Amino acid sequence: MFLSEIKLRDFRSYERVSFHPSRGITVLTGQNGAGKTNLLESIHICCLGRSHRTAFDRELIRQGAESAVCEMTAEKRDGGHTVRVLLSGDSRRLKDITVNGKRLARIGEMMGHINCVLFSPEDLLLLREGPSCRRRYMDMALSQIDARYFYVLQRYAGALKQRNALLKQIAAGERGEDELLIWDEQLAQSGETLCRFRRRFASSISPLAKAKYAEISKRESEELEISYVSQVKSDSARDEILTGLLKSRREDIRFRTTAFGVHHDDLRFTLCGQEMKNFASQGQKRTAVLALKLAQLSLMEAEIGEKPLLLLDDVLSELDSMRREYLLASMDKAQTFVTCTDETDLSGAKVDAIIRVSGSVLEY
Ligand SMILES: Nc1ncnc2c1ncn2[C@@H]1O[C@H](COP(=O)(O)OP(=O)(O)OP(=O)(O)O)[C@@H](O)[C@H]1O
Ligand SMILES: [Mg+2]
Repeated sequence: MFLSEIKLRDFRSYERVSFHPSRGITVLTGQNGAGKTNLLESIHICCLGRSHRTAFDRELIRQGAESAVCEMTAEKRDGGHTVRVLLSGDSRRLKDITVNGKRLARIGEMMGHINCVLFSPEDLLLLREGPSCRRRYMDMALSQIDARYFYVLQRYAGALKQRNALLKQIAAGERGEDELLIWDEQLAQSGETLCRFRRRFASSISPLAKAKYAEISKRESEELEISYVSQVKSDSARDEILTGLLKSRREDIRFRTTAFGVHHDDLRFTLCGQEMKNFASQGQKRTAVLALKLAQLSLMEAEIGEKPLLLLDDVLSELDSMRREYLLASMDKAQTFVTCTDETDLSGAKVDAIIRVSGSVLEY
């Protein structure tokens, strides 16, 4: 797939922008604060309905404006898909999203119309931080591949919120314990589906990432493995979750939070069998994240039958020349948007278009 048109209105630093990007590699250059990441962010929003940088839509609206619009058209095998997201800044209102002119009733319906893999400097933290950022990564990747995952995830999050609220009321003596059952049942049911998706995701992406890692590092002996970590161990996840929730009920009421379930899941990265988080060098971690992202690109292509867009935000300056070369060589296969402040980072790349961003004006 490729984006044939990008239109923005009052989005971040942009008042009005409209252009037809190149099908190949587009480089966005400009000084710090010029608006390069803003542009990638708008593409991310048209793929997933949300920013990768903020959960607050208000921040996305240009200062002084009432609302913002991101609109893009992707050309795919089955024709054009025009996604338009209207951001109103009113957190109580649902986002106003249309696809090919038709207003969506649920945000999940936008998943899969335009797909992207984003690689930004924050991703380099993926191996250093706690489990929640790796869960978020997995959730975003899976939601894009299959909208059903997104719906189940929403259902799970909703049930968890309700259960935790109820735990507080039970602790305060306002409600009875038996009321927990309905939420336990929902957590078990949707938890089982999430578990299945995540286990499959880890087992499919692991060998792909392992191969990419070996190619990038040129060291066959360094074997990268990505595995799914969960409190839920068996295949009959539903029963296991129900049992786990029942077992931890007393504690849950005491601490007013749910101790058992897939909301504690994680992805584990090991190199030659050793946990990377504690033992790998910075360079090895960078290589692992790069391998993960490129593996995700292949996996998504295999699952959806189209090459997703590749968005590279400022990562070239973070990589050494060997890894940079590898990344640049992988780029020409997908429509790519790459930002950098220094064009020399790109020496050796087959660049199709350069856009200079300054003061929110795009110059070709
Ligand atoms: N809601 C908004 N309204 C107006 N301007 C905004 C808004 N949000 C962000 N900006 C402006 O956008 C600019 C930041 O843009 P962006 O993050 O895209 O920069 P960048 O080119 O990626 O810079 P860097 O090279 O440092 O990563 C800042 O100048 C900021 O003031
Ligand atoms: Mg930036």
